[in-house]
Amino acid sequence: MKRFILAITGASGVCYAKRLFDYLRPRAELHVIISDRGRELLKIELSLTPSYFSGEAVIVHKNTRINAPVASGSFPVDGMVVVPASMGTVGRIAGGISGTLIERAADVVLKEKRKLVVVPRETPFNAIHLQNLLTLDRAGAVVLPACPAFYHKPGSLDDIVDFVVARILKQLEVEQDMVPPYEP
Ligand SMILES: Cc1cc2nc3c(=O)[nH]c(=O)nc-3n(C[C@H](O)[C@H](O)[C@H](O)COP(=O)(O)O)c2cc1C
Repeated sequence: MKRFILAITGASGVCYAKRLFDYLRPRAELHVIISDRGRELLKIELSLTPSYFSGEAVIVHKNTRINAPVASGSFPVDGMVVVPASMGTVGRIAGGISGTLIERAADVVLKEKRKLVVVPRETPFNAIHLQNLLTLDRAGAVVLPACPAFYHKPGSLDDIVDFVVARILKQLEVEQDMVPPYEP
């Protein structure tokens, strides 16, 4: 079973995190970390509490628990996704701050040359955002903006969410059946 870290931070678009969690839960071991502002966004946008993120192979860590296993490079993981990624978290990861478990786990994933997928949600970007995202890319992260397309003619909000989540799953090398391959 693959093992992933799912970090949810305080940007709009927690629906992407929920869909990704629902899809991965029966398929992988999941280590979930939610920032304080991420909790607030879950409540505002989906009326969810962090208790939603539970299950047999689900381990939830407090963002303050800097000594959790995922804070160490000796704990193998197949990848980490920060979704949605606030510009604050992006900046702190890019700056190597490692003050919270999310920041530290991302730092470790990068130093171990593992897969870090960062899904920013902000518009417009300022030069600081762009610089930080470039720093993450150069450090080996995949910057995957929550940026759905419309050529597959989505018929619902779920279809739009699935488009982005399918892209994340591709990066994690997890097979997905939610969005068919593009055919012109
Ligand atoms: C309702 C609401 C929506 C927000 N949406 C975004 C967003 O889409 N992108 C972003 O970068 N920050 C957004 N923010 C600001 C972040 O939540 C804020 O910078 C916070 O400090 C981020 O903390 P975190 O990175 O620890 O989760 C939003 C804040 C609120 C209250």
